Amino acid sequence: MKIVRSGPLRGNIKLSGDKSISHRAILLAAIAEGESRIQNLLVAGVTKKMLTALSELGVEWRLDGSNLIVTGRGLKGLQSPGKSLDCGNSATTMRMLAGVCSASGINVNLDGSPGLKTRPMSRIVNPLGEMGVIIQAQEPGKTAPLQIQGRRSDQSLIAIDYSSPISSAQVKSCLLLAGLATNGVIHYKEPRASRDHTERLLSRLGVNIDRSEAKDGSVQITMDPRGCLPLPPLITTIPGDISSAAFLIVAALITPNSEITIQEVGLNPTRTGLLEALLMMGADLEINNTGELNNEPRGDITVRHSHLRGIHLPESLVVKMIDEIPIFTAAAAYANGKTLVSGAGELRVKETDRIAAIQMEFNKLGVNLKENKDGFSLQGHPTLQGGKVQSHGDHRMAMSLAVAGLGAEKSVEIQNAEITAESYPNFASDLRDLGAQVE
Ligand code: S3P
Repeated sequence: MKIVRSGPLRGNIKLSGDKSISHRAILLAAIAEGESRIQNLLVAGVTKKMLTALSELGVEWRLDGSNLIVTGRGLKGLQSPGKSLDCGNSATTMRMLAGVCSASGINVNLDGSPGLKTRPMSRIVNPLGEMGVIIQAQEPGKTAPLQIQGRRSDQSLIAIDYSSPISSAQVKSCLLLAGLATNGVIHYKEPRASRDHTERLLSRLGVNIDRSEAKDGSVQITMDPRGCLPLPPLITTIPGDISSAAFLIVAALITPNSEITIQEVGLNPTRTGLLEALLMMGADLEINNTGELNNEPRGDITVRHSHLRGIHLPESLVVKMIDEIPIFTAAAAYANGKTLVSGAGELRVKETDRIAAIQMEFNKLGVNLKENKDGFSLQGHPTLQGGKVQSHGDHRMAMSLAVAGLGAEKSVEIQNAEITAESYPNFASDLRDLGAQVE
C-alpha cells in the first residue's frame, strides 16, 4: 500500500460492525438454542476464521451480506471437531473459543499461526485449570496449540473466585463463557475496566450478571448462570467499529480542511479512550445522535482538522484504548510538543510487540520516538518525512502507518499491508472515498 500526501478528507461514512462484538455474537449464537439473527456483522479475516470454526463444531450458519443467521445447538450441543480449529492470527478467537469449548465439554485442539503460538496463554490455561478444565498447552510458557479434553458428563465446572492480575477482556470473556457450565456463582475481578461487551450480551440473553466499579478503577463481576440455560437466540444489530473509526478520525484530524462524519459508531465507554485522549490534545470532535441499541451505546462522530498538542497519556485511559495506541501515535507525531505513553506493557504481547514496532517504524518516517519498558515518548512535528515501512504482520500497525503517511513530505509505502483485511477490509477504499490518495 502506498500513501501520498493528500488534500482534505470530506464526507459521511458508515462502518462494518465492531470486531469484538461480532466475535462474541457469533459464539453466543452458536451456544444459544434456536435461530439467532445478527445484523451488521464484521465480515473480515478474523470473523471468517471464527465462522469456519463454528462449522467444524457442527453449527449451521449462513451469511447474507453482513447479516448472519445461526442455528444454535445449545451449550452441550457442540460437536468435537475432526481436526484442529485454526484460530489464524487472532488471540481473541483462541481465548474465547477455549472458554466456549471448555463449557461445552468437547475434545478440541486450538491452533493458529506461528505468531499466535508465541502469545501468552497461561493467562487462560491456569484459571481454566482451576475451574476443572483439562487443558494442555506447550511448555515452556504455556503457549498454543491448546488441547482441551472435555468432560461430556453432566459434571459441572467449578465456579471460581478469580482476581486477574491484568485487565484483559479476552481473559474475562473466556472465563465467563466457561463459567456458563458451572453450578455456582463466578466472581471475577480486574484491575481496570476492560471492554464489557460479553457482560452486556450475556445480560441481554438473560444471564444474571452484575458489574461494579470501585473508586480505584478495579471492576468486580458476579455471574450466576444457574437457571439461565438454555440461552435464547440472539437478535441484534452491531454498531460500527470504533477501533476502525479511529483510523479515519485521526486521518481527518491531521489533514488540513478535513471534515468527516462517521455514523452509528459504537460508543461503549470501555472503548472510547482514544476520543478522550484526542479531546485532551485539542481535537475538534463532535458526537451527535447518541442512543443505545441492543444494550450498546452508539452515535455519530464528526471530526474536523485540528491543531493537536502533545500530552502525557493518563494511564487510566490505556485499557480503554489498548488497540488504538498505534493510531494515537500517528496523531501525536503531528501534535505540537511531547507525548508520553506509560503503563502500556500489554502492547508487547499483541499481534506483534507493538512498542518495539512503533519505535522502529515511526522512526523510519522521521519521528523522534524512544521506547521504554511499558510505553514510549515522542516529540511531535508538523510534517513527517515518509519512507518504506513494515506492518510486522499487524493490521493496526499497517493502518496507523498509512494514516501517518497522509501528511508526510514523501510517499509512505507499507509492506505486507494486505493484513488490514483481518479487521478492516475496506480501509483503503474508505480512505479513498473520503479523498485520500491510496494505491
Ligand atoms: C479484545 C480485547 C483486547 C484487544 C483485542 C480484542 C476483545 O485484548 O486487544 O483486539 O475482543 O476482547 P485484551 O483485552 O486481552 O487486552
